[in-house]
Amino acid sequence: MTAAREPGASGAFRTFDADQAGAIADPLDYLRLEHERQRAVCEALERLVETMDEGAVAGAAQEILDFLTEDLSRHIADEERDLFPLLEARCPPEDGLKGLLKRLRREHEMDEDLVEFLRADLEFLALGRSLANPTRLLINLREFASTQRRHLAWEDETVLPLAETRLSDADRAAMAERMRLRRR
Ligand SMILES: [Fe+2]
Ligand SMILES: [Fe+2]
Repeated sequence: MTAAREPGASGAFRTFDADQAGAIADPLDYLRLEHERQRAVCEALERLVETMDEGAVAGAAQEILDFLTEDLSRHIADEERDLFPLLEARCPPEDGLKGLLKRLRREHEMDEDLVEFLRADLEFLALGRSLANPTRLLINLREFASTQRRHLAWEDETVLPLAETRLSDADRAAMAERMRLRRR
């Protein structure tokens, strides 16, 4: 028998479990895969708001909340503690990365603030309750989704291709190991 799915639940974006994280072959590919999940979360958030009047969005709200508070904060740690410092050590000034990394770090801080704003409403929906002020969630999620999509485009189109060029095999192996430890 197939389980009924709530509207808005996707199940596609929770990140790897510990066993799968143990198989991180290439940290840059893994970050790209997580970026796909982050795009899926933005879509799931938008679906959630479209369908919450129909009810039964508690599971989807919990799933998104778990992703934002666990997976996303781990991903930001991968970049802030491992990827960005390695790039700063390996990229010459002519790569022009300094300003972009400064901006991405600032956006990571904004992400954390926005997640805090989203958290209150998502926790409420996860309990199966209706929001007194759904417009607040709508405004916060639109801001979050548009910031995320622009941020992901910069990382996928500029930062990760530079990392492919500048990081050594040893750098990537060390980074993969630290990412595995973060997921134990
Ligand atoms: Fe990222
Ligand atoms: Fe990032």
